[in-house]
Amino acid sequence: MDARSIIAVVRDGQGLTTEAAAWFAAGLASGEVSDAQAGAFAMAVFLKGIGTEGRVGLTRAMRDSGQVLDWDLAGPVIDKHSTGGIGDSVSLLLAPALAACGVYVPMISGRGLGHTGGTLDKMEAIPGYRALPGVEALKKVVAEVGCAIVGATDEIAPADKRLYGIRDISGTVESIDLITASILSKKLAAGLDGLVLDVKVGSGAFMARMEDAEALARSLVATANGAGCRCSALISDMSQSLGHSAGNALEVLEVMETLTGSAVNEALWDVTAALGGEALVLAGKAETMDDGAAMIDHALETGRAAEVFGKMVAALGGPLDFVERYPDRLPSAPVLVPVPAPRAGFVTRVDARALGEAVVRLGGGRLVGTDRIIPSVGLSGLAVIGEEMDPGEPLALVHATTADRAEAAVAAVRAAYGLSAEMPEEPPLIHGRIGPEDV
Ligand code: URA
Repeated sequence: MDARSIIAVVRDGQGLTTEAAAWFAAGLASGEVSDAQAGAFAMAVFLKGIGTEGRVGLTRAMRDSGQVLDWDLAGPVIDKHSTGGIGDSVSLLLAPALAACGVYVPMISGRGLGHTGGTLDKMEAIPGYRALPGVEALKKVVAEVGCAIVGATDEIAPADKRLYGIRDISGTVESIDLITASILSKKLAAGLDGLVLDVKVGSGAFMARMEDAEALARSLVATANGAGCRCSALISDMSQSLGHSAGNALEVLEVMETLTGSAVNEALWDVTAALGGEALVLAGKAETMDDGAAMIDHALETGRAAEVFGKMVAALGGPLDFVERYPDRLPSAPVLVPVPAPRAGFVTRVDARALGEAVVRLGGGRLVGTDRIIPSVGLSGLAVIGEEMDPGEPLALVHATTADRAEAAVAAVRAAYGLSAEMPEEPPLIHGRIGPEDV
């Protein structure tokens, strides 16, 4: 087998066999496949597709191109993946809530991508937290605490790492085949028994249209199950920020307020319970999604999830008293400026992508890969669709490092909101579900 003939077969629309996928992924990891060949392969897949067999083969092969974790634990190993959004800190609630229900969660997470926030950047807003502790520490913390939210090491799915870099510069990122294999190869390398997916749809999601979100959800669910990992997906709303805050430390603060019950964000709680319900069914811990969601509610209500979160933070180098003292421990920005509503009316539209971009420009995300995140900046108190505003009432509060940056963010946030005299319909939090039986 060689790269040239594999590329030619895909180019001619004849798919990718399991053997060819294995050869190509190994070649990507070892360097036997050149950059030019990897680019040509990505473009051939983008234009012709590789079908379900090809997606499963490529996912498995990229998973096996590096280290695949194995576990010897007293319960099932489960994770969640979100396709990315604004103010979406569900992972921080879900990992400890699932652990409190007897599930083990090695949550290997990513950093912010484009306008969307990243779980790892949020965790690093906690002083001292080691988000890249290595595989041995991950295994130890998962075994002892029940969950660990960490980043991938270079040994996890190296074929994807190489192919992703080449896709990024060859116009081949937006291929459902390649996105599927990329996301799942990294997740499945964590040795999961089950995976629940949160596929976002709306103005702040990568998939703004329902049909695209549904196609991605179907592809991910079919491929993960085909590769031997129980998987289902919820399609959830991203037509506005999920939390009232967007920005790393501000989102951690909102999570802690919800976990400790001091100021519960109901949207965050409900999406966490819905995804957790799915995850507990996949884990064999609940009969139905509703039973599973009730178990997550209980873990949140009783403070068990908060307790697990505190243990995870302490085990990974964060403050030992984080749950009790989080308002003092999190960094805060020096400049706070409200964004006044320009007139009276109901919030009818939010450009969630523009909110995410405003956070990035405040320093809460990266414009280039080498940018350093400023954890304290972002937006809080974000008004939601259906909320009635008086003139001058704040649509949000900007947290910035300088007055100039704050001013730019105020203008961006004001432009992101549409107000009207008509009360709009509020979007549902969950738009749909794709289970193994649907694909
Ligand atoms: N996230 C990934 O890990 N890979 C993709 O291709 C897209 C999003």
